[in-house]
Amino acid sequence: MNILAPSILSADFKCLGEQLKIIAENGAEYVHVDVMDGKFVPSISFGMPVMKSIRPATEKVFDVHLMIEEPIRYIKEFKESGADIITVHYEACSDVAATLKAIREEGLKTGLSIKPKTPTEVVKEFLPLCDMILLMSVEPGFGGQKFIDGSLERAAQLRTIIEQSNLPIDLEIDGGITLENVSDVIDSGVNIIVAGSAVFKDPGGNTAKFMKILKEKEA
Ligand code: DX5
Ligand code: ZN
Repeated sequence: MNILAPSILSADFKCLGEQLKIIAENGAEYVHVDVMDGKFVPSISFGMPVMKSIRPATEKVFDVHLMIEEPIRYIKEFKESGADIITVHYEACSDVAATLKAIREEGLKTGLSIKPKTPTEVVKEFLPLCDMILLMSVEPGFGGQKFIDGSLERAAQLRTIIEQSNLPIDLEIDGGITLENVSDVIDSGVNIIVAGSAVFKDPGGNTAKFMKILKEKEA
């Protein structure tokens, strides 16, 4: 199944709850929540209190992307704030396996993310601890950047690595996804699509347009 995960980083924060309802009504199954610490990435976004306050607005899956140093410190807090999936960065953890295990011990799904310059092979040894791999197709830190050339090849490499493991692992991509390139992205082996600016320019209309393409690709 192809899933759309709109990134609320590009949403209108003065009416976040309302925007979550609109994307859900138009078929988005996940809500992608980008947490930034000003250290692992240059920017600071939002954290637990904001997540907690928007959690009651929707029953959809909260797909939490932690762009923070040593995320193992905060797994419990993000669970209590409503996370369903927690994705951490390979580059941000001194002990990747322990971090993924800590997420599973909380009963949540795990994601492991790599930045655009990190070799795809690094994920291999952690696959038994992963429910999802997140490929960054921009340098993490900001919404609205341009999709990095070469990301389709990297997605295809990751899909092959996942298939060789015989494990039921999703492949998500994040950064610079548009209505124009999403079809090629799915063809490269991705099944979960994060899109921020391209969705929230018109949350209802663009969610519906993305969903139409995602469903056509399943047929
Ligand atoms: C970037 C974030 C992304 C971002 C995507 O660091 O992880 O989720 O919000 O935004 P767009 O789709 O605008 O590139
Ligand atoms: Zn993200």
